[in-house]
Amino acid sequence: TDVRGRSIFGTFFHAPAPGALEVLHEAVVAVDEKGTISRVARRGESGYEAARAAADVVLPDGCYLLPGFVDLHVHAPQYPQLGQALDVPLEVWLQKYTFPLEARYANTDFARRSYEALVADLLSHGTTTGLYFATVHQEATRLLVDICLEKGQRALVGKVVMDDPATCPDFYRDGSTEAALADTRAFIDYVRAHPDNGEARVLPVVTPRFIPSCTDESLAGLGKIAAESGCHVQTHCSESDWEHGFVLERHGVTDTESLDRFGLLTRRTVLAHGTFITGADMDRIAQRGSAVAHCPLSNVYFSSAVFPLRAAMARGVRVGLGTDISGGPSASLFDSVRMALAAGRMLEIGVNPDLPPERRGRPDSRIDTATAFHLATAAGGHALDLPIGQFTPGYHFDAMLIDTRVPDGTIRILAESSLEDVLQKILYLASKPNIVQVWVGGHSVATRTPSAIKTVPS
Ligand code: GUN
Ligand code: FE
Repeated sequence: TDVRGRSIFGTFFHAPAPGALEVLHEAVVAVDEKGTISRVARRGESGYEAARAAADVVLPDGCYLLPGFVDLHVHAPQYPQLGQALDVPLEVWLQKYTFPLEARYANTDFARRSYEALVADLLSHGTTTGLYFATVHQEATRLLVDICLEKGQRALVGKVVMDDPATCPDFYRDGSTEAALADTRAFIDYVRAHPDNGEARVLPVVTPRFIPSCTDESLAGLGKIAAESGCHVQTHCSESDWEHGFVLERHGVTDTESLDRFGLLTRRTVLAHGTFITGADMDRIAQRGSAVAHCPLSNVYFSSAVFPLRAAMARGVRVGLGTDISGGPSASLFDSVRMALAAGRMLEIGVNPDLPPERRGRPDSRIDTATAFHLATAAGGHALDLPIGQFTPGYHFDAMLIDTRVPDGTIRILAESSLEDVLQKILYLASKPNIVQVWVGGHSVATRTPSAIKTVPS
């Protein structure tokens, strides 16, 4: 069921700020003809009874609406190797597995099949917005845009720039620096002028893969394109000791400072990982209004460290969550939520039992479930500067319907459980079968059991 022009009665969860879970119990959310939330009527407010009586979509018992997830870091072409090839460090993994795989996207048939499967999978995991790295290829990257538009996913897509012959193999590299910049410009024009993109549901992204794969000329050129076009920017930043050290050696400053010098730290920049950013880097990122895509699962494998999430948030850095497909072995942002919770606890616990407990770990690293939920939803919207991730008038109706009672994925909820308990159970226990319907801008983009919601004939 599309819900454009309809109003929905049910129980909604969202977390507009860190640690601030709001339960809209038996509320009415009205969606306008453009898929934007026009009204939220809460119990007890004036006009509530009339709104409730007018609701034409009614959620059954045991069903809850959550904002759709915002995945701030996905390598779309790496989907075929999801769940494999995690046995070597980043710099080996790129050359041995990842560049050969990404090179295959020169073949548009292969690209179409792979990207269609990925976007369908992400939608059915409740990911309504994806920030994607594609490949260096113009054609395949355009195909990813077409597929997101066809399937209705909100997406930000970048043609990857990697033009440095010193670090990128001959079989997978931009033809030249000039070609990389010209292709980036042409790609931006393609997305913005796409006949099916009238609502700007797909946005182009300036995408230097990371400093080690780019020449200084391409970094400077991309900074200029970002300034001229106002596009989003995405790249990897201080992900591993090797990568952080490579940039220190080449530029004499951290990734963050170097990216800033090239004009690549903007209000619309998302830095993947940031595991080794310094306190000064955090201040710089906060000052520019840029964001970090925290990828807690991938960080286990490629950072071999834990991103100091609480410290970054305390210094004013915007942070959201990313799966980093395929550096993280799951397409589900639920798994990233769980790993973010676990990683914060493990950072506090530390690793050296010979030290006294108070010296083993980093105090105050844990986040609560409301903050983890916020990171996967509203925080992603803040990072991208888009009105998504919460049930608030003026925001897009991007949402997932969780059915806790599906036979193949029942989440046992006690009679005495509070609604806060229910949300915790959903965050820790939900799996694909529980995600029975997903909407982007009020359009239904994935369904499992179409009969799960009742519509009242009007
Ligand atoms: N750094 C440069 N490229 C990549 C990539 O594809 N994945 C990850 N995790 N880090 C990178
Ligand atoms: Fe990545």
